[in-house]
Amino acid sequence: MTKEGGVDAVDASPANRAHDWWRQAVVYQIYPRSFADANGDGLGDLPGITSRVDYLQQLGIDAVWLSPFYPSALADGGYDVDDYRDVDPRLGTLTDFDSMVTALHTAGIRVIVDIVPNHSSNRHRWFRDAIASPPGSPERARYIFREGRGPNGALPPSDWPSHFAPSAWTRTSNPDGSLGQWYLHLFAPEQPDFNWDNREVQLDFLTTLRFWADRGVDGFRIDVAHALKKDLTEPFRSRPKLTDMVNPLAGNDELFDRDDVHEIYREWRQVFNEYSPPRMAVAEAWVEPARRPLYARADELGQAFNFDLLESEWDAAEYRAIITDNLTMARDAETSSTWVLSNHDVVRHPSRYGLRSGTDLKKWLLGDGAIPPVDRAMGLRRARAATMLILALPGSTYLYQGEELGLFEVSDIPHDRIQDPVWTRMSGAEKGRDGCRVPLPWTPERPAFGFSPVDAHLPQPDWFAELSVQTQDSMAGSTLDLYRRALALRRQWQSTETLEWQHTTNNRVLHFVRPNGFASVTTFNRTTYSLPSGRVLLSSGALDGSRIPPNTTVWLAPET
Ligand code: GLC
Repeated sequence: MTKEGGVDAVDASPANRAHDWWRQAVVYQIYPRSFADANGDGLGDLPGITSRVDYLQQLGIDAVWLSPFYPSALADGGYDVDDYRDVDPRLGTLTDFDSMVTALHTAGIRVIVDIVPNHSSNRHRWFRDAIASPPGSPERARYIFREGRGPNGALPPSDWPSHFAPSAWTRTSNPDGSLGQWYLHLFAPEQPDFNWDNREVQLDFLTTLRFWADRGVDGFRIDVAHALKKDLTEPFRSRPKLTDMVNPLAGNDELFDRDDVHEIYREWRQVFNEYSPPRMAVAEAWVEPARRPLYARADELGQAFNFDLLESEWDAAEYRAIITDNLTMARDAETSSTWVLSNHDVVRHPSRYGLRSGTDLKKWLLGDGAIPPVDRAMGLRRARAATMLILALPGSTYLYQGEELGLFEVSDIPHDRIQDPVWTRMSGAEKGRDGCRVPLPWTPERPAFGFSPVDAHLPQPDWFAELSVQTQDSMAGSTLDLYRRALALRRQWQSTETLEWQHTTNNRVLHFVRPNGFASVTTFNRTTYSLPSGRVLLSSGALDGSRIPPNTTVWLAPET
């Protein structure tokens, strides 16, 4: 038996929990435009979230993380921010934000907001000032402007592509209409990258962090935390391909995961620690797993997303290796691990797990999810087992809205309704991420399944009816029921941050025990397995007498 995990004796006293609440929290990600629409315009909003606090409380989560709700032209679903210290008028006002925070706090739910520091939108005041100012001006120095190559600077300064466009450079026009400098954008052209060597930029983000922390926000999710610092020494190296974000390069290349990015987060930590309890932060850093703990150091952001399960197959050996590695890395960085199966950037996990192993998800989406078809029963069964497995682990779990309903990816959004910039920028070569961002079904009725009184901003499929909150609400065994039970039990069985693997007679079975005796057993793929001793607390699927059927997780308490 091997023992894995973090701190052996976490002080679970109420005073300490106030500081460390995030270490083993269940955080529910809200994509505000698609959660609940209170003002009836087809777009979710902050009052919509406030109106659903009871639902969130009943679900049993510890915190919500809100994807951006700031003013934005939605060139990238709100990750193109016009003003970091305001609310998009379509989503509400700062007063609505305060009411939402009060309602969530009253319900015992903490609030994490998204900070997008790598780039602003091209409508941000600073970018408009930069465009209106001459080359070499302090206004331009907040972003990354360069002269083009070749005759009349007609070629971009380098051959770098962006994540959302063929080139990471876009040319500007001068106020007199002539063509001017180029600016860098690692994402869409509407998302110009900040120059993080500029002190004004650095200080402005400290102001933004304090602005939200002063309004009672408990923590921050840091968007593309690994990209802020760049080595822009010329001549630029040729780099005709940007690797997919999910396949990061080894650390310290010119654009990503540079050692000097950590100076920024050390300064941010001082701001977080001005508050009591200190504000928490979690890095979205698509870096080599071994470099992830750098972002999670206690004097930096404190925690980093572990995306390994987003990439892995439903496979016992892979799961075990990921769990072991991440618990070790978290322990070494004196933090807790995070577990994520779905978020607003990836195909929902019940669909992933219902597809043949090795399916190319981008191709599958391009074919509207028809080839290969999803085995929905299998996908959901595995997804439920996977969720229970990760909820049994030490560390925090980040859930994505709608997964508690067992929602599948909406893979057949008509082309003329696609919003993700990936689709147009890549000339239809990638369909993008809208399929996991379709507004939630609250009731089985059209037009928008209780999300809004009018049609939702992204089309919802007919099958949403049978997965709606109302349909599942009082249905024993529904996915919603399973999540509620699991979260309530998890609270009751919270333990110190270690686990001990148990020997199993089948290597497609993962069995571990937490220090207080709470155990979790998962059967992968075709395997069935005898129930180990213990009192069954919950099972992700019906048991077959004393046997655990395939693709099932069972939680057990010690026999009393
Ligand atoms: C992050 C966000 C993603 C966004 C990108 C650019 O990866 O999760 O949705 O498109 O950053 O801001």
